Amino acid sequence: MNHYPYDAVAFDLDGTLFDAEEGIVSSVKYAMQQLGCAIPEKADLRQVVGPPLRDTFQYMLGVPAERVEEAMQLYRADFRTRGMYRYSLYPNIRSMLSMLRQGGVHVALATSKPRWLAVDILRHFGLLEDFNLVVGEEDGAAKHGKPELVRMALPKDFRRAAMVGDRKFDVEGAKANGIDAIAVAYGCGSREELENAQPKVLVDTTEQLRDLLCPGAQMPRGFFLTVEGPDGSGKTTQVNLLENSLRQFGFDVVRTREPGGCAISEDIRRIILDPANMEMCDTCEALLYAASRAQHVHQVIRPAVERGALVLCDRFVDSSVAYQGGGRELGVKTIQQINQPAVNGRLPDATLYLAIDHREALRRRLAASEPDRLELAAVEFHGRVQQAYEELIAQDEARFVVVDASRDIQTIAEDALNKVLARVLPGRDREGK
Ligand code: TYD
Repeated sequence: MNHYPYDAVAFDLDGTLFDAEEGIVSSVKYAMQQLGCAIPEKADLRQVVGPPLRDTFQYMLGVPAERVEEAMQLYRADFRTRGMYRYSLYPNIRSMLSMLRQGGVHVALATSKPRWLAVDILRHFGLLEDFNLVVGEEDGAAKHGKPELVRMALPKDFRRAAMVGDRKFDVEGAKANGIDAIAVAYGCGSREELENAQPKVLVDTTEQLRDLLCPGAQMPRGFFLTVEGPDGSGKTTQVNLLENSLRQFGFDVVRTREPGGCAISEDIRRIILDPANMEMCDTCEALLYAASRAQHVHQVIRPAVERGALVLCDRFVDSSVAYQGGGRELGVKTIQQINQPAVNGRLPDATLYLAIDHREALRRRLAASEPDRLELAAVEFHGRVQQAYEELIAQDEARFVVVDASRDIQTIAEDALNKVLARVLPGRDREGK
């Protein structure tokens, strides 16, 4: 039995669950451009989130009355295909919704958006399953208004209910239904607007909101994601893009790398990669990678996963198996054995592998210049690295997410994100897009 204060909670969407500014502003700009209307210089585009868009087009942006409907249609078409994908889920919201669901709380959405659009947004972000009910307007005019939407979002009987929102309309909607109004000051409404509306509680951060709605709840378990690939596979670029996308999906991302990731392990990295240490033998190198990993798992990876974070780690034990086991021919078994106490059971939940032939990767790295003698010797080394990776993947297909890294950056990034999300949010996959 949980000790949550509310057994029914209705949420507003824009500015409460999601940072909607970029998505909405970009579609407003598109509509204005298509209409051939200039955006007035004094217009503050941040103000477009919240008030009815028809009014914004007409009064703030100066669209003639007879063209407002056309503007709305252009806006909607762009929002559906581009704008909504620029939404960002605020941090801590994902874990909060999951805790509420675990606690048996009735969770509803009460939005002034068309209902089907709100459903699409929740589905895209893998949140639809967290809601018992989605209440929105029908297409076109705002027929119901917030008080009515909130009433429809509440279950037949409840012990104590709350409406959470970032504008005074949300506070008024709660009050009209005799339930608690929880206002959030991190959204689009100013503090002054919210204070004047006199909510029951005003919170400043999503963390405070989560603590208020789910006091004492245990954090849902995190996720350990690693990224692997041969040198020249474009790994750093893809890890950067993936990190941004996962943050946009509301994950508490801890980005880290190997060798390194914490002070002691970064010191060890310097020793391994120092060109002055040419006489380092292969076994010493393999043990140093393992030593650096032991500290990294102990100090960074394990604690972060336990507190609910998504750890995004650039290279992990598979690199040792491929480079030291395969490349340096120390043997896969030996490398797995020396890494066993370092990994200490904390294997990745999923591993993204950027697949590219090592010769193609080398061509990329050398950017069309002729390889020298040393680089040609390296061809064999990287061939063995690739082979070891491929054997690892064949043995553990359930863990690996393989993407073809010979394509262009954006195509690889989209493919990688969709495949990773299918692992991190298995429910989203079932719902389709
Ligand atoms: P990294 O910094 O990931 O370089 P890049 O982004 O250019 O691939 O890795 C540095 C090198 O360390 C890389 O060549 C792979 C190697 N390495 C190993 O040989 N064993 C290991 O266990 C790890 C983690 C990395």
